[in-house]
Amino acid sequence: MKGKCLVISGGTRGIGRAIVIEFAKKGVNIAFTYNSNEELAQNQAKELEKEYGIKARAYPLNILVPDEYKELFKKIDEDFDRVDFFISNAIISGRAVVGGYTKFMKLRPRGINNIFTATVNAFVVGAQEAAKRMEKIGGGSIISLSSTGNLVYIDNYAGHGASKAAVEVMVRYAATELGEKGIRVNAISGGPIETDALRAFTNYEEVKEKTASLSPLNRMGQPIDMAGACLFLCSSSANWITGHTLIIDGGTTFK
Ligand SMILES: NC(=O)c1ccc[n+]([C@@H]2O[C@H](COP(=O)([O-])OP(=O)(O)OC[C@H]3O[C@@H](n4cnc5c(N)ncnc54)[C@H](OP(=O)(O)O)[C@@H]3O)[C@@H](O)[C@H]2O)c1
Repeated sequence: MKGKCLVISGGTRGIGRAIVIEFAKKGVNIAFTYNSNEELAQNQAKELEKEYGIKARAYPLNILVPDEYKELFKKIDEDFDRVDFFISNAIISGRAVVGGYTKFMKLRPRGINNIFTATVNAFVVGAQEAAKRMEKIGGGSIISLSSTGNLVYIDNYAGHGASKAAVEVMVRYAATELGEKGIRVNAISGGPIETDALRAFTNYEEVKEKTASLSPLNRMGQPIDMAGACLFLCSSSANWITGHTLIIDGGTTFK
């Protein structure tokens, strides 16, 4: 994978940060995005370059405005000469999910729309831009992060769960249409993983305890568990895997 290039949204924290580090360890150059903390992101890029001898750049992106991806990729073209992997990872939280992250009877179109925009529409525009670049080099691998909250009930998760189900369908359509260009498209669906997004859950402690008790492996998921799956799906070991949703849940969903 050395010398290839990963574009990933939301590389500053949680799962995105773990993915960035695991790809950097393999010598992959990284274009990652941030939303709220420019200084932290720029420092992170410098540290990645120093630690792993790769090229790393941080760019601002707001997934609530998916068309920003078009300008973002133009900037990436100036800094990198190829795009091999695209991972749609960023997720919104806080005020943007009011009316979306809540009980069914409290759902409001604005909150649901925000979540769909940030999850489904952002994946579509980002993957389209990435695919145009991948086509030029004969192929690539695209991944959308998803969640088992579209398979099992999670408190307040109707908006997110429905949008993750939708993005998994979008992944299958993209895979079907982009295969002839040598581009594979997959989703990685995680059970509860210990990150800021999960810590923001109102019942975080309860989720944490329940996850460990549901998992035959008797622990919560960690960001690196998802990063390993991303590395696999971008590697040549996964060359005939496309249109697939890989579930990384520590065995919790079945129990
Ligand atoms: N945690 C879980 O339990 C879990 C389970 C399954 C799947 N997932 C999925 O994994 C992905 C990453 O989740 P996470 O838990 O790692 O999240 P996280 O720790 O909350 O990190 C979110 C990332 O998204 C960025 N971001 C926030 N708002 C944004 C916006 N409006 N535009 C662009 N970027 C924005 C953040 O950037 P800044 O740092 O600059 O704000 C940050 O890098 C998501 O797709 C999530 O659904 C998570």
